[in-house]
Amino acid sequence: MSEPHSAQPLLEISGLKTGFDTYDGKVPAVDGVDLTVHAGKTLCVVGESGCGKSVTARSILRLVDAPGRIEGGTITWHGDDEPFDVLSLNHDDKRLQRLRGGDIGMIFQEPVASLLPLRTVGAQLVEVIRIHTGMDKQAARKRAIELLDEVGIPKPEERVDAYPFQLSGGMCQRVMIAIALCANPSLLIADEPTTALDVTTQARILDLIRRLQAEHHMAVMFITHDLGVVAELADEVAVMYLGKVVERAGVEEIFADPKHPYTRQLLESVPVLGRDRGRDLPTIPGTVPNPLHRPKGCSFHPRCSEAIAGRCDIDEPPEVVFDGGRTAQCVLYDDQTEGDRA
Ligand SMILES: Nc1ncnc2c1ncn2[C@@H]1O[C@H](COP(=O)(O)OP(=O)(O)OP(=O)(O)O)[C@@H](O)[C@H]1O
Ligand SMILES: [Mg+2]
Repeated sequence: MSEPHSAQPLLEISGLKTGFDTYDGKVPAVDGVDLTVHAGKTLCVVGESGCGKSVTARSILRLVDAPGRIEGGTITWHGDDEPFDVLSLNHDDKRLQRLRGGDIGMIFQEPVASLLPLRTVGAQLVEVIRIHTGMDKQAARKRAIELLDEVGIPKPEERVDAYPFQLSGGMCQRVMIAIALCANPSLLIADEPTTALDVTTQARILDLIRRLQAEHHMAVMFITHDLGVVAELADEVAVMYLGKVVERAGVEEIFADPKHPYTRQLLESVPVLGRDRGRDLPTIPGTVPNPLHRPKGCSFHPRCSEAIAGRCDIDEPPEVVFDGGRTAQCVLYDDQTEGDRA
């Protein structure tokens, strides 16, 4: 775990709040998130559906559409000589445009919806390559074909002229990955990039990401439900629940010694080869509450097997910082609980 912390921070999110104004009230989708991605390292963000992973990712590039609004926090980019707060930039600031698709490549969760339907994939790739590298049209087209080949698209010299509707969802996903990688970004944000793909292609894409990371010292923020992928890819892990990061730690620490009861329950619901044959896996009881009706106190307490009545249902949990810097938002480790145990 010491290694990830010794790397320089590249992106530091602090106190991020993003909400959606709806007829029923404000949905606090991201509710005070703190995260750090270190240069050249992989941060995996995990958590059940609806906990705010995608909204966090979109907030980084200021791509939250109305009725969504970033309401607070800072997002510091350390990739330039002078660090700056992405949230303080005007919408037309050149640095924001350079971040989007240049310094930061993003693979969105909905690949087909992210591609323009009436332009060939080649034209879309060529445009992004030219914006960020200044290549001429011919060189950019050559690079586009190379990239399509790299992400595993067969016959790239033909597919470059295809429209998105002529390609399968998996192919569109790979085109999106090619677009995200075309400017050799310092940070790749990948939001469930392989869920729509078959296992072989998934393995190929993960290999590609790892290779690029090694070659270009690229950092990765990888959003996934798949704890197998986390084990394979992550240096650090952030576990999200209902708009908050409830635990942050190095990958080995998360698997060997999960601190937050939610992390423990997530890990217990994953099958282990050899151990779980024929056994019913435990699931986390209940469902993620509607963020409009967030439970008082710790928002996980109604589903938590270790909740302490009179505390977890009343107070927001403290953020406990452990040796080595890992954190958990849980009363189980604060002084009062430790005192009660003694
Ligand atoms: N346009 C919107 N209007 C209202 N609420 C929204 C909107 N977009 C997202 N939300 C809410 O924000 C919360 C976080 O959504 P988000 O898409 O970030 O979840 P997620 O963790 O990425 O889930 P998944 O794993 O399913 O992709 C959810 O409760 C969702 O309902
Ligand atoms: Mg999502």
